[in-house]
Amino acid sequence: MNDLINDPNASRLIYGLRDTGYNVKTAAADIIDNSIAAGAENINIEIQLLHDGRKVVYFGDDGHGMNQEEVRNAMRYGADRRPDAKSLGKFGLGLKTASSSVCKRYSVISRRSEDQPLAKLTWDLEHVEQHNVWEMLAEPVTADQNEMFDEYCGPTGTLVIWENCDRLLSKEYTPGTKEQAAVKRMSEALSKHLSLVFHRFLDENDSREGNVVIRINGTPVKPWNPFYPERSEQVLAPNKQKVVVELFDGSEEVAEMKAWILPHRRDMTKEEEAEFARISNRAQGFYVYREGRLIQDGGWMDVFGAPENGGAKLVHVSGGMVLLRAA
Ligand SMILES: Nc1ncnc2c1ncn2[C@@H]1O[C@H](COP(=O)(O)OP(=O)(O)O)[C@@H](O)[C@H]1O
Ligand SMILES: [Mg+2]
Repeated sequence: MNDLINDPNASRLIYGLRDTGYNVKTAAADIIDNSIAAGAENINIEIQLLHDGRKVVYFGDDGHGMNQEEVRNAMRYGADRRPDAKSLGKFGLGLKTASSSVCKRYSVISRRSEDQPLAKLTWDLEHVEQHNVWEMLAEPVTADQNEMFDEYCGPTGTLVIWENCDRLLSKEYTPGTKEQAAVKRMSEALSKHLSLVFHRFLDENDSREGNVVIRINGTPVKPWNPFYPERSEQVLAPNKQKVVVELFDGSEEVAEMKAWILPHRRDMTKEEEAEFARISNRAQGFYVYREGRLIQDGGWMDVFGAPENGGAKLVHVSGGMVLLRAA
């Protein structure tokens, strides 16, 4: 026996990885990040609260999908590196850690072509706990799931299912109207989050990224551009809008930057302010995009008031865009 090979304890680790800083909104955004990277044009999220209080979430996309072997790789903690970088994924963990942060049982069902059978694999945390091995479940696709796939995906695509969602809501409810209201509030908060993170994809008039329609229980998520460009003023001179950033490996990237000043409160109607400008102190600061997704909304990233650096700190941004939004 080789005493130096010290495999992780499956049960301890798979549970430990539930707490890596996700909340429901950021977890769902990570699943959608994968769908967009797979070239999806339609992403359907279905949040179901069953009569007995069970909560199930479906994410269907019409992207390129995966065959059996690719589903197996996708479900691996530490999946293979992506051949292209058009995603926020870096460590091959997002699908697993995002899903398990919300639920204790999650499945991926997918196909790369219509003539292929659906490939399906499941991680069930309680199963891993019981047997203390990194073992997935290979269960047949149910009739319901088949139907779901046809409805939410298409000839090719991927369906991610979260079951046993013990962390979808921030507290426990006895099944009933209060719980229904909490699920509704959660869906609305999710819609708001996605409308911001993916606004460039959701806005069909924004040519910087491809177009994606995201629906939550059938309702399309509307884009929300935090800079309200229809009414705001961009104040950075053209020659200041590109910044060459030296990366840690010595290579250089160009970060694009804009600075926006939103209209003053007194020049807006209440509705305009609430719907388009959403002015608040917290909303001021840097907005950072990577691969067209918003990864930071507001805040000053320690650029001001870091005395050891004379009040300034170098911010490294890779292939992204930095924007200032001062309300
Ligand atoms: N919706 C999807 N459609 C097609 N492939 C997917 C999808 N979701 C995940 N994958 C595949 O699974 C792999 C692992 O995903 P993930 O755990 O999120 O890690 P990462 O995004 O860092 O690669 C991805 O690299 C991709 O190949
Ligand atoms: Mg990912």
